[in-house]
Amino acid sequence: EAAVPFHGARQAGVTAPQQPATHLLSFDLPQTSTAVGRKALRNVLGALTGTLATAASDAPRDPRLQGGGTTRLASLVGIGPALAARLDLNVPASLEELPRFPGDRLDPRRSNGDLLVQLCAADRWTLTVVAELVGGAAQAAGAVPRWTQSGFLPHTAPGTTPRNLFGTKDGTANPDHAAAEQWVWGPPGAHGNGTVLVYRRIRMDVTGFAALSENRRDRAIGRRTVDGVALSGTAEHDEPDVYAKNPDGSYVIPATAHVRLASPRFDGGARMLRRSYSYDDGPTDRGLLFCAFMRDAAQFTRVQNRLAARDALTPFLQHRASAVAYVLPGAASTGTLGEQLWR
Ligand code: HEM
Repeated sequence: EAAVPFHGARQAGVTAPQQPATHLLSFDLPQTSTAVGRKALRNVLGALTGTLATAASDAPRDPRLQGGGTTRLASLVGIGPALAARLDLNVPASLEELPRFPGDRLDPRRSNGDLLVQLCAADRWTLTVVAELVGGAAQAAGAVPRWTQSGFLPHTAPGTTPRNLFGTKDGTANPDHAAAEQWVWGPPGAHGNGTVLVYRRIRMDVTGFAALSENRRDRAIGRRTVDGVALSGTAEHDEPDVYAKNPDGSYVIPATAHVRLASPRFDGGARMLRRSYSYDDGPTDRGLLFCAFMRDAAQFTRVQNRLAARDALTPFLQHRASAVAYVLPGAASTGTLGEQLWR
């Protein structure tokens, strides 16, 4: 397997095949005058570009990354809404923090931040080493670490959908290339190669959900646990038909099923690209690192408002952390991440 190229019009961490392990790092920049802050941000983005490009290359300099296998490192760097406002950066006008949702119990020490870096790789070792290099470079340039979070996926054959800790296939109904151009990447122009990442750390009551009968679990999701097929369909990639009815008039995909309430049918077709990972931070703290990319985070807000109110999964979930970031366009081979930010 070849290394994932770092350089390109778009950052690799958004669409490179999902890797088994992820690590998120959030940083703040000290509050300063706009001019000083902009200079600091330029330095940090320069340092991150150099560090990530070298770490992803076929010949990483760090001996700890020279084990012989391919690290498959793919990364992305994003800008938080507060920093964009403070430094008057050229980001999509719609970039802002998410509103509070019913049931949110967010830990501010694990949420938000001025800069977000997501690393994905073939193994945890690579992530630990690269996270240290990234953290070192960012701090030397003036950034202050805020939080980190690691996550993982089950071992899955290429092209198949990984499962989450409820045991259900997660990531089936993702947008194809054409839909992603419309709903995930920015509109053609300055932000056409950027996107917005919504991150939620969602604690899952794995034991409670497992205690439900298989039928109830399937109806809570709206898809069969065993093969991920929608209750209205016959193959995993058949789109859930939210209008299909049983002979008695009830919906085949129940009114409170997750895939019904999250359906793009109720959002004028709007889709998000979900690339979630699981996390395990102790015996009672396991769940999903929900990671989704979209043109405008308002789309997440619409879906999450429906889910928080009615989703059959909601009694088994607790949203504990949250972040939004504008994922920058990629860097050309001679360029630096964030060149489009300055106006
Ligand atoms: C679909 C699980 C949270 C949005 C699905 C599916 C599963 C699932 C199993 C069906 C398979 C698939 O298409 O990927 C979960 C779990 C969650 C969670 C366990 C929490 C721990 C969320 C949140 C949102 C969301 C917070 C957004 C606010 C969606 C969307 C779909 C989906 C948009 C696709 C609907 C479709 O097009 O059919 N989720 N999900 N999910 N989920 Fe979630």
